[in-house]
Amino acid sequence: MEYQQLIIAFCFYSLFVQQSQLTYAGKHLCPPPPPPPHEAVYLLQLKQGLTVDPNAYRNGCDSEAEAKTLSWNATRDCCEWGGVTCNAFTGHVIGLDLSSSCLRGTINANSTLKKLGHLQRLNLAFNKLSDFPLGNSISELSSMTHLNLSHSGNMIWEMQIPAVLSNLSKLVSLDLSWHFTEFQFGLTTFRSLLQTKPIWRYLSLRGTGMFGNISESQIFHLPNLQVLRLGDNPLLTDTLPNFHRNFSGSVLELDFSNTGIFGKVPGSIANLHSLWRLNLLNCNLSGSIPESLGNLTAIRELILTGNNFTGNVPSTISKLSKLVYLDLSSNHFRGSIPESIGNLTAITELALSDNSFTGNVPSTIRKLNKLSYLSLSSNNFEGSIPDIFANFSELSFLDFDTNSFTGPLPFSIATLTRLESLYLQNNSLTGPLPSNISGFQELQILDLSFNCFTGATPPWLFHLPSLFSLYVQHNQLTGKLPNELKSNYVEYSNIDLSYNKLQGEIPDWMFSTSMGRLDLSHNFLTGFEKQVWPSGSLQYLNLENNFLQGTLHQSFCDMINLEFLILAQNNFSSSIPDCLGNSNSFISILDLRMNNFHGEIPRFLPTGLQYLSLYGNQLRGQVSRSLVNCTSLEALDLGNNKLNDTFPIWLEKLPNLQVLILKSNLFHGPIGDLESEFPFPELRIFDLSCNGFTGTLPSNFFKNFRGMMDLDEENTEITQASNRTHRDYLYHVSLVIKGNEYDMGITSIMTSVDLSSNRFEGDIPNSIGNLSSLVLLNLSHNSFLGRIPAEFAQLQQLESLDLSMNRLIGEIPSLLSSLTFLEVLNLSYNHLAGRIPIGKQFNTFPNDSCCGNPDLCGFPLSKECGNNNESPLEHDDDDDSYFMSGFTWEAVVIGYGCGMIFGLLIGGLMFLFEKPKWYVNFAEDIAQHIAANKRTRQKKRRGLRMN
Ligand SMILES: *[C@@H]1O[C@H](CO)[C@@H](O)[C@H](O)[C@H]1NC(C)=O
Ligand SMILES: *[C@@H]1O[C@H](CO)[C@@H](O)[C@H](O)[C@H]1NC(C)=O
Ligand SMILES: *[C@@H]1O[C@H](CO)[C@@H](O)[C@H](O)[C@H]1NC(C)=O
Ligand SMILES: *[C@@H]1O[C@H](CO)[C@@H](O)[C@H](O)[C@H]1NC(C)=O
Ligand SMILES: *[C@@H]1O[C@H](CO)[C@@H](O)[C@H](O)[C@H]1NC(C)=O
Repeated sequence: MEYQQLIIAFCFYSLFVQQSQLTYAGKHLCPPPPPPPHEAVYLLQLKQGLTVDPNAYRNGCDSEAEAKTLSWNATRDCCEWGGVTCNAFTGHVIGLDLSSSCLRGTINANSTLKKLGHLQRLNLAFNKLSDFPLGNSISELSSMTHLNLSHSGNMIWEMQIPAVLSNLSKLVSLDLSWHFTEFQFGLTTFRSLLQTKPIWRYLSLRGTGMFGNISESQIFHLPNLQVLRLGDNPLLTDTLPNFHRNFSGSVLELDFSNTGIFGKVPGSIANLHSLWRLNLLNCNLSGSIPESLGNLTAIRELILTGNNFTGNVPSTISKLSKLVYLDLSSNHFRGSIPESIGNLTAITELALSDNSFTGNVPSTIRKLNKLSYLSLSSNNFEGSIPDIFANFSELSFLDFDTNSFTGPLPFSIATLTRLESLYLQNNSLTGPLPSNISGFQELQILDLSFNCFTGATPPWLFHLPSLFSLYVQHNQLTGKLPNELKSNYVEYSNIDLSYNKLQGEIPDWMFSTSMGRLDLSHNFLTGFEKQVWPSGSLQYLNLENNFLQGTLHQSFCDMINLEFLILAQNNFSSSIPDCLGNSNSFISILDLRMNNFHGEIPRFLPTGLQYLSLYGNQLRGQVSRSLVNCTSLEALDLGNNKLNDTFPIWLEKLPNLQVLILKSNLFHGPIGDLESEFPFPELRIFDLSCNGFTGTLPSNFFKNFRGMMDLDEENTEITQASNRTHRDYLYHVSLVIKGNEYDMGITSIMTSVDLSSNRFEGDIPNSIGNLSSLVLLNLSHNSFLGRIPAEFAQLQQLESLDLSMNRLIGEIPSLLSSLTFLEVLNLSYNHLAGRIPIGKQFNTFPNDSCCGNPDLCGFPLSKECGNNNESPLEHDDDDDSYFMSGFTWEAVVIGYGCGMIFGLLIGGLMFLFEKPKWYVNFAEDIAQHIAANKRTRQKKRRGLRMN
C-alpha cells in the first residue's frame, strides 16, 4: 500500500523534475527532492552481497572504517550515504563511488546494481570483487559516462567486453587498469567497440594483460581522445603510429610504458600539440629523437627512460618551457648537454643518468633553480663540477656518480639546505673536503666513495643531524677519527671509511646503539683494548687490514646482532672468545684470517655460519666438532695454523660446503672412509696441501663430488651471503694457483683439488676423471705410484696439472694432449717413460715440464726417441738414489713453499706465467658487482619515482 503511494508520488515527481530541468537550468531554487526509495532498496541489496574486509585490497584501505558502505542504512536519506551522489533536481542516484572500500564479494548478473538506471559514474576501484560477470548487468546502465574498475578484482570478461560496453553509448571514460582478467584479451577485440565510441576521452587499459598490435586496433582514431593509458602490457607491440592531425589535437596524455613498442619516434609527434604527459618508459624504442619534439610546447612530463635511443638530444628541447619532469636516463644518448637547457626554468626533476653524455656540465643549469631532483650519474661527463648550486633551494636529490669529474667539491654544494641524498662516488674528485659547511642539515645519504679526496676528515662529516649512511671508502683521507661527538648526533647507522689512510684508535661512539654497519677496513688504525662492548644493533663490522692489536674480551659477544665479523689481517693475539658460539649468535660470516689468535678453535661455533676463515693464525688442537651443526657452511678455511687432527671426514655431509682448506697444518693419518653416497656434494675447492696425510686415497673418493662435475656457469656463484641485507662480502681464501699464492675473493667458478706435499701413496684414483669441471689439480710431492690414469683425459676444463715428485710409471697417456685449456703441466721427477705425446697443447710446454724422468724422450726434451720405439723401463724404487740425481731440494721448496703466506712467489719449477684465467674473472667480477649494485640502486630509485 505504502509502496504504491510512493510510486505514484514518484511519477509526479519525475514529471516535475523533467519540467524543472528545462526551466531551472542549473539554478538553485528549492532544496533537492528525496531520491526514489526503491533506489535505496537496490543499494541495500547490493550491499548485502558484499562483505567488508580490511585485507580485501592491500592499498585499498587500512581499516573497515574506510568502507563507504558502513554508513548505508535505511534510516537515512540514501543521498547522504558514503559514495552516493544524487542528481540535485531529480534525486536519482547518478554516482556511486565505492573505491577503496575494503569490499570483497560478488556483483553478478542478478545484482540490483543494474537497476540503478540513472547511474552515470560508477567507481569500484581498489576492492577485491570476484566472479564478476559484471558485463551483462552493466550493459543495462545506459546512462553511464564514467566507469572505473581499476584494481577492482577478477572479472570474467573474455571476449564479451566490446559487446557489453557497446551498449553504454554515453561512455566517455573507461578505466580497466590492473584488472586481472581470467583470460587475457587482444587489443583488437576493442576495435569494433572503438568504432562506435568516437566520444571516448579517457581510456586506461594499463596492466590488463592485453596483447596484440596497436595500429590494428585503430585506437588512435578517436577524435576526442584525451588520455590513453596502455602501459604495463608487455605483449602489446607495434611501432608508434603516425600521429595524424585529425586525431591528435586533443590528446593530453599517452602512456605506453613497459610495452613492446619499438622503432623510432615519428616526426609527426609534433601534432600532439596539447600533450601534457608522454610516458615511454622501458619500451624498445630506438633511433634519435626528432627535432619536432620541440613543438610539444604544452608538455610537462616527458619520460623516455629505458629505451635504446641514440644520438644527441636535440637543442629544440629547450623550447619545452613548461616541462617540469624530464627523464632521459638509461638510453644511449651521446654528445654534450645543450647550453640551452637553461631555458627549462620550470623543471623540477631532471634525470639524464646512464647514457653516454660527454663534455662539461653547462653552467646554465644554474638557472634551473626549481630543481628538486638532478641525476647525471653514469655518463662520461668530465671537468670539474661547476659551482652552480647557490640558488637551488629545493634540491633534495643530487646524483653525479660514475663520471669522470675532477677537481674539488664545489663549495656551493655544501650550502644546499634541503639536500637529502648526495651521490658523487666513482669520479676523480680531489682536494680536501670543505672544512665548514652551511647546508646538509637534511642530508640522509652521503656517498663520496671511490674518489681521490685527501686531508683529514672534517668534523662535520660526523655531525650531520639527519645523516644515516656515510660512504667515503676508497679515498686518501688521513688523520684521526673524532673521539667525542655531541650526544644527539650519534644516529648514524651505516659508515664506510674503508680504504683510506686513517690513523689512531677507533672511537667508542662508532659502536653506538644505532650503528648497523661499520666498515673501517684497510686503514692504519691502531689499538683495540675495549673492555665493554655495547649490545647495539651492529650487524656488520669490518676492521680488516689495520694495525689493531689486543684482546677480544668476553663482552665482545654482547654484540648480539652481529652477522658479519671481519677482523682479518690485524694483530689480535688473544684466544677466540668461546662465547662467539652462544646459541643466540647470528654470525654468519666470521673472518679472522691472518692474526695471531692462539689457543684452540672454540668448542661451539655459531650454527648459522656460512663462511669461517681462521687462516694464518696460531691455533692448535683439533677442528671443532660443532662445525657438523653448521649446515649453512659454504667455506671453511683453517689453513696455516698448527692444528693437529685427522681428516675431518665428518664434514662430508655438510650440504653447502664449497670450500675446504686445511693446508699447512699438522693434519695426519689417512683420509678415512666416506660414508655418504654423495659426500661433499658442493665441494669446489679442496686443499689439503702441506700436511702429514698418509695412506691411499679411497678408490671412489672423487666419484660423487658433484660440485666439480658439469658446473653450469649460471648457478655456481657463492651468493648466499650476498642475499643478505648488506652489501656483498667476498669470501677470501689463499690459494696456490699455478705456483703462485693468491689471497683472493671467490665469486666465480673455480675448482681446485690440491693434495700436494703430503705422504699419500698408492694409485691415483681413476675417479678423479669424474671431476669434469676441475680447473686445477695438484698431486705433487707425494708418493703416488702406478700410471697416470687415462681418465684424466676427461678433465676438459683443466688448466693446470701438477703430478711432479711422485713415483708414477709408464707412459704419458696420449689423450692428455686433448686437454685444450691446459696451460701448466708438470710431470717432472717421476719414473715416466716412453715418448712424450705430440700435438696440440703438448707442443707448447717447455722442456722442464717433463725433466727428471730419465726414460722419457721426444719433444720438448732434447733427448730423441730411438727409431725402434724402445719400451719404457721399469724403475727399481730406490728413492734415495733417484732423488739425489740431478736436482736439489731447494729448487722444489721455492716453488711450493708450504707455509708461504702471501705474495706472488713464482715457483722455481713453474714456467708459464700469465694471469690465470680465474684471476682475471675475479677482477671482472668485482667490476660487475659494483655495476650490479648500482643498477639495483638505480632501479630502486626509479621505482620510487615512477607511479
Ligand atoms: C540468479 O538468480 C537465479 C534465480 O534465483 C539463479 O538461478 C541464478 O543462478 C542466479 N545467477 C547468478 C549468476 O547467481
Ligand atoms: C579510478 O579510481 C581510482 C581510485 O579512486 C583513481 O585513482 C583513478 O584515477 C580513477 N580513474 C579515473 C579514470 O578517474
Ligand atoms: C581528416 O579530416 C579531414 C577533414 O575533416 C578529412 O577530409 C580527412 O579524410 C581526415 N583524415 C583522416 C585520415 O581521417
Ligand atoms: C640498441 O641499438 C643499437 C644500435 O642501433 C643496437 O646495436 C643494439 O642491439 C640495440 N640494443 C637493444 C637492447 O635493442
Ligand atoms: C699431535 O697430537 C698427538 C696426540 O694428541 C701428539 O702425540 C703429537 O705429538 C702431536 N703432533 C704434533 C706435531 O704436535
